[in-house]
Order: sequence, then C-alpha cells, then structure tokens
Amino acid sequence: MSELYDVVIIGAGPGGYNAAIRAGQLGLKAAIIEKRDNKKLGGTCLNVGCIPSKALLHASELYEAAEKNFESLGIKTGKVSLDLPQMLKQKSDAVEGLTKGVEFLMKKNKVKTFASPAMKRLNLKQKNIVIATGSEVTPLPGVEIDEQKIVSSTGALEFSSVPKHLVVIGGGVIGLELGSVWRRLGAKVTVVEFLDKILPTMDGEVSKQFQRILKKQGVEFKLSSKVTGAEKLKTKVKLSVEPAAGGDAEAIDADAVLVAIGRRPYTAGLGLENVGVETDGRGFIVTDHFKTSAAGVWAIGDCITGPMLAHKAEDDGTACIELIAGKAGHVNYDTVPNVVYTYPEVASVGQTEEQLKEAGVAYKVGKFPFAANSRAKTNHETDGFVKILADATTDRVLGCHIVGVEAGELIAEAVSVMEFGGASEDIARVSEDSITIRPVERGDVNAVYELICGLA
Ligand code: FAD
Ligand code: NAI
Repeated sequence: MSELYDVVIIGAGPGGYNAAIRAGQLGLKAAIIEKRDNKKLGGTCLNVGCIPSKALLHASELYEAAEKNFESLGIKTGKVSLDLPQMLKQKSDAVEGLTKGVEFLMKKNKVKTFASPAMKRLNLKQKNIVIATGSEVTPLPGVEIDEQKIVSSTGALEFSSVPKHLVVIGGGVIGLELGSVWRRLGAKVTVVEFLDKILPTMDGEVSKQFQRILKKQGVEFKLSSKVTGAEKLKTKVKLSVEPAAGGDAEAIDADAVLVAIGRRPYTAGLGLENVGVETDGRGFIVTDHFKTSAAGVWAIGDCITGPMLAHKAEDDGTACIELIAGKAGHVNYDTVPNVVYTYPEVASVGQTEEQLKEAGVAYKVGKFPFAANSRAKTNHETDGFVKILADATTDRVLGCHIVGVEAGELIAEAVSVMEFGGASEDIARVSEDSITIRPVERGDVNAVYELICGLA
C-alpha cells in the first residue's frame, strides 16, 4: 500500500521546488515529480533559463568591458581574447551547483523526489496536487527550431562558436538579453520585431530610449516586420521577412536564428481535461487563489496567468502551500518587478504611463536622467533614466520604470514602497539626507527623482 501524501507537486521549477520547501517547513508530507532527464531539479529557470542566461550575460559584459573600456580607465590588459568553451563551462558549473542545491533542499525538508515520464505508473496517493509544469517556447510556423542553426533560448545558451550574423525573431526579454550576449562576443545582431517597438509591454519611453541605447551598441532593428519562412542552406539560413502590415518580402541571410516570440503554458500530456481542470483560450490553467476547477488540484507559476517570472512562480508556490495548510497565502501581482539584465539594465514595477492613460487615472510623472547624476557621470554610466508615476491626488506610487546600470537593484526600493502603499514622498523621506538637504513638497515627484539620483 503506497504512502499518503498531503501534497504531490508536479514540476520542480522555482514554483514547484519552493512549494515543496514550504510544505516541508509547515510539516506537510510532500513529494515532487520531475520529468527532466535524470530528475534534474530547478526547472526552466535553473537549467535553461534565468541562471545560464545570467551567467553568460555577466561574463560577456565583463568581456566587452575589458575589450573596450578598461584602457580608458587606465587599465592595461594586453589583447583580450575569448575562450568560449570556458565561458560556457562556467555557465554549466553554475547550473550544476544550483540544481544540486535544490536537491539538498528537498532532502533537508524531507520532500520525496520522483522521476516522471511514467507519471501514471507512480501510483501516488495524495490529498492535494499542485501543478507547476511551467512553460515552453512558442513555436513560429515556417521557422522550425532545430537547436543548431535555428534555436530557442535553450540553443542560444550553447552555441559552440560565435555566429557571424545572428537574427533574433522577437524584440522581447529573451531576444534582447541573449542578443546582447552574442553581440558582445562578436556577432552582428539583427532583431526582427512584429510590433513597432521593442519590449512592447514596458513603458513607452523605456522601450524607445532602450532601443536607442542598444542601437548605439550596434544592435540592428527591423520593427513592424515579420519572418514568414526560413530556408536552411548549407551553412546559412535564408529568412523571408515582410512588413507586419503586408508588402514585399526581403531575404536576410543569417548564420543562426533565435526564435524568441514568447512562451506558452506547458500542460501537454497531463490529461487535464480528464480530471476537469479548466484552461483558458491560451492554455493557461484557470485558478482562483491557485485553486483549479477540480477539487484538491492547485496550479502555480508559468502555467497560470500573471507574469512569467521565477520570483512570481516562487511566491505562488509559497502562498499556494500556505493556503493548503489553512493559512493566509497571498501574492500581489501588482508589485512583481521585472528586470531585463542587459547593459544597462531595464527594470520596472507597477503600471506604465500607457496603462494609466487607458484606465483614465490622473497621475503625475517625474523623470530624471542618469546623465545628470554625479556618480553615473563619474563611472561613465550615464545612459538611462528613472521615471516614477504617482497618483495625482494621493501621491501613491503607481509605477516605477528605470533604464540604467543596476536598475535591477534600484527597483527594489520602489517595490517596497508600493507594497506598503507608499507615496512618492515616502521614497524622498527615506533617501539619504532628503529631509536635511532639501525639503520636498508633498507630491513633488521631480524633486524625489533628484533625491533618488543623489543630486540633492
Ligand atoms: P518551470 O521553471 O518551467 O518548471 C517546470 C518544471 O516542470 C520543468 O522542470 C518541467 O520539466 C517540469 N514538468 C513539466 N511537465 C511535467 C510533467 N508532466 N511531469 C513532471 N514534470 C513536468 N525569470 C526571471 O524571473 N528572471 C530571469 O532572469 C529569467 N530569465 C529567463 C531566461 C530564459 C532564457 C528563460 C527561458 C526564462 C527566464 N525566466 C526568468 C523565466 C523563468 O524561467 C520562469 O518564469 C520560471 O522558470 C517559471 O517557473 P515554474 O516553476 O512555473 O516553471
Ligand atoms: P516576450 O513576450 O518578452 O517577447 C516576445 C516578443 O516577440 C514581443 O516583443 C512580441 O511582440 C514579439 N513577437 C511575437 N510574435 C512575433 C513574430 N511572429 N515575429 C516577430 N516578433 C514577434 O517573450 P520572450 O522574449 O520569448 O520571453 C518569454 C518570457 O520569458 C518573458 O515574457 C519573461 O516572462 C520570461 N523571461 C524573463 C527574463 C527576465 O526576467 N530577465 C529573461 C528571459 C525571459
């Protein structure tokens, strides 16, 4: 007779493994099932997502700095050259170390792990099931991914040599992060984006300014364009590219093509329809506080709606288990930050100006450029700005959008303030010396930026 689990989790990504840890912490008897080869834990994020991409972004950023910027700072290194196998190895080592860390955490929290493909044959008994199966690459008809020449993000983490010309289809997060990696390492990079702007869900000013910065770095853009087909030649791929609105096609030759037009929920093979778990028109599992339409079945992370981000999946996992345990689990999707780890970084939280306009909210805007910030100037890191949107009447912070070096760290301050329902004045008051050096009028958001940026 098999054991009875309080909770069985399907999928060991950030959502699933955090749910498992929380279950262990709360004294629930938990098991986790993972179908990745050799029961490798960590999901997309640790194996082929956040971690390996950040490892390459970090290394390639240092490579480019050493190649182009060190000399002007008075640092002589001799000729800098690329050891790509070593760069890829340190990336794989990071993945290996972290996935082992998750294994350790499962043991520490007394969570049983099972390998999956034969899930049905596991015959586990449980009171609750948590579906945490994540997401997969959205395919592009006519451009078939082979992970050699035409790759998804997974193949773009593994090129064994730097492609001469990399065409990226999709000017979203993956396209710009991995496009940046290979441009820094020597590739010519062309981004083909269907819409008339990159990072289309970000604040309009952010996407405009960020595109200008990337263009200055050498990335080429074909906006309002769509790839309608790919022909694999001996060493190249010939892409057929048309204006999005229709018109004459042009041919673009690429040495490699990265398809990065989004990700979709991954629930294939689970047989959701057989157990009454409802999905929406895009395949996301429909949930109400992580409860699906089937009793005792819960879902979290990329396979439900909300931002497809690791930290959101983690919070979902924790909150879901707390609810299963009869506690008050909750995640506020309005304050989940978003970071693009390029150089400079792009970070945002809350509403964009476009969203506020559409919702008819009266708001104030304050914007301050890094070009006028002493530390940024001293460090030769003047690209970008901080933009805060606050309610016109209450001064409550509604959104914060940053393009700039370490934007991903700076955004944390805005996230905390927003989570506590704070005002832009609150940011000013906790910024160093704000009270003594410069009195801030309530709601004077421009003064707040100056304070944040250290100018006051
Ligand atoms: P996943 O991490 O996808 O995990 C789901 C797991 O379930 C997988 O291991 C899968 O094998 C398993 N599974 C699926 N079906 C079954 C089944 N039937 N039985 C058993 N197991 C199953 N997010 C960030 O916040 N920051 C970043 O910097 C970032 N960078 C990224 C870079 C790239 C290139 C990509 C692709 C994504 C990135 N993301 C990033 C997004 C992040 O990876 C996802 O949001 C996150 O992994 C979602 O976690 P999850 O647990 O919902 O799903
Ligand atoms: P995305 O949704 O960020 O961007 C896709 C882009 O492709 C959009 O700009 C879209 O307009 C464009 N597009 C769609 N169809 C197209 C077509 N046929 N031709 C040309 N362009 C087309 O998706 P992406 O970059 O694939 O990333 C998927 C998700 O992974 C992200 O939304 C994010 O949630 C997560 N991620 C997060 C990261 C981070 O937090 N730093 C890093 C990488 C991924």
